Amino acid sequence: MSNRVYLFDTTLRDGEQSPGVSLNVAEKVQIGRQLAKMGIDVIEAGFPVTSQGDFNAVQAVAREVKGSSVAALARANPKDIDRAWEAVQDAEQPRIHTFIATSDIHLQHKLRKDRQQVLEAAVAAVKHAYKYTSDVEFSAEDASRSDLDYLCQVLEAVINAGANVVNIPDTVGYTMPEEFKEFIEQIVKRVPNIDKATISIHCHDDLGLAVANSLAAVAGGARQVEGTINGIGERAGNAALEEVVMGLYTRKDTYNLTTNVTTEEIYRTSRLVSSLTGMMVQPNKAVVGKNAFAHESGIHQDGVLKERTTYEIMNPSMLGITTSNIVLGKHSGRHAFRDRLMQLGFNLAEDEVNKAFGRFKDLADKKKEISDHDLEAIVDEEIRELPNTYDLSYLHISSGTTVVPTATVGMKIGDETMEEASCGDGPVDAIYKAIDKITNLHLVLEEYVINAVTGGKDALGDVTVKLRQADNGKTYIGRGVSTDVLEASAKAYVNAANKLAYEQKVQELGDRS
Ligand code: KIV
Ligand code: ZN
Repeated sequence: MSNRVYLFDTTLRDGEQSPGVSLNVAEKVQIGRQLAKMGIDVIEAGFPVTSQGDFNAVQAVAREVKGSSVAALARANPKDIDRAWEAVQDAEQPRIHTFIATSDIHLQHKLRKDRQQVLEAAVAAVKHAYKYTSDVEFSAEDASRSDLDYLCQVLEAVINAGANVVNIPDTVGYTMPEEFKEFIEQIVKRVPNIDKATISIHCHDDLGLAVANSLAAVAGGARQVEGTINGIGERAGNAALEEVVMGLYTRKDTYNLTTNVTTEEIYRTSRLVSSLTGMMVQPNKAVVGKNAFAHESGIHQDGVLKERTTYEIMNPSMLGITTSNIVLGKHSGRHAFRDRLMQLGFNLAEDEVNKAFGRFKDLADKKKEISDHDLEAIVDEEIRELPNTYDLSYLHISSGTTVVPTATVGMKIGDETMEEASCGDGPVDAIYKAIDKITNLHLVLEEYVINAVTGGKDALGDVTVKLRQADNGKTYIGRGVSTDVLEASAKAYVNAANKLAYEQKVQELGDRS
């Protein structure tokens, strides 16, 4: 058996099924590129039959992301599979991923089919997909709650039909590590043609065991692990791929297995996914949480100062978490600024460096010392890939304990500057109402989160908003950073409005063509 573990990332498909998460095409391509840079083997870009938007996103990822296979999901029927192929065919290495449930619970209550009918549908689906490509993955949904004999029968049949990857999902996060390892070992033993396919696993985190179950399955013989960045996904989420990768790496003594991942890209990928999905990473999250390498107790601090490995089993620099003694400030030049960005993993074009440098200088006037976290926050904001319809020009707020909060907002739309004023329940509400008057986009604020990027009174405020468009029900995530939290709030709202405007434009162009 090979000692290489393949990583299948479904952040753009299962991850996007997290409640409230919705990524536009440009954001999916941006994440796809970063996943490829990180060394992910297969990127599942979406489920094309579900909507035109999903189809477009899969097609764009397939066309623009190089270096990884790109997969499209399809139920086990010809229409889904045709649509999946249409979307993914231009990828360097396209894969069709087709699935049907194999557990009796799903057969009886969801599919209303008997075992023979499901087996035939699975085989027919794989054969249909195989007409398009020899890279066909079959998933037996709810496999971990399926009858093992029947599951093995289905796996044998789909491998004979052409599947080169067979996926064993723990769809509802029900299994336990020891049990799942044994389950995979039994599949290896009982499916006679299993050597013709790679065994994959796909674990959900309903009992908090997705990563443990994935690692146990690998020990049992699985060689493809499916999961998402930061563990986002349906309900409690999927296995966090960065944890799986670091588990395999850190405990090479136990597993003796390798992956293709450039671990130095892990932290950047995590931050990008968090920023674009609006799903915050909990501070105590393994591997990528803010506190994952913070030592609070004096005994621990003393130990780490003497020898890092006393309390750290991973080196943060391996994850791309850099800590530097060089502090940038208002006297720092472009050269030092660019060097620091390179060390942080940003490979920016000249015009992007210029934009970011201008922003850095503005910030340096307000904040004495600029940390790496500050730099990451402002650069992320400056190099967003979408063209802006709206630009925030100015903001005046009157607020206090005895006055009605009032905001006047100026925004540039093309060459025109528009101004509106509004009162509100608080200054943020007043700002948002004034912006609504200008954009007329019917946005409803669903979530508002504010964080300080660093400590200290002059810290940058980092605001994330989730807005729902009242007419189409879709949600848009926006983010803004500034030393002034009201300005950060306004920027976040405008950023979400820009995403909606961009989507409307893309749709108009599509309707016209
Ligand atoms: O959880 C699941 O079973 C899935 C399949 C479609 C692979 O997401
Ligand atoms: Zn899933």
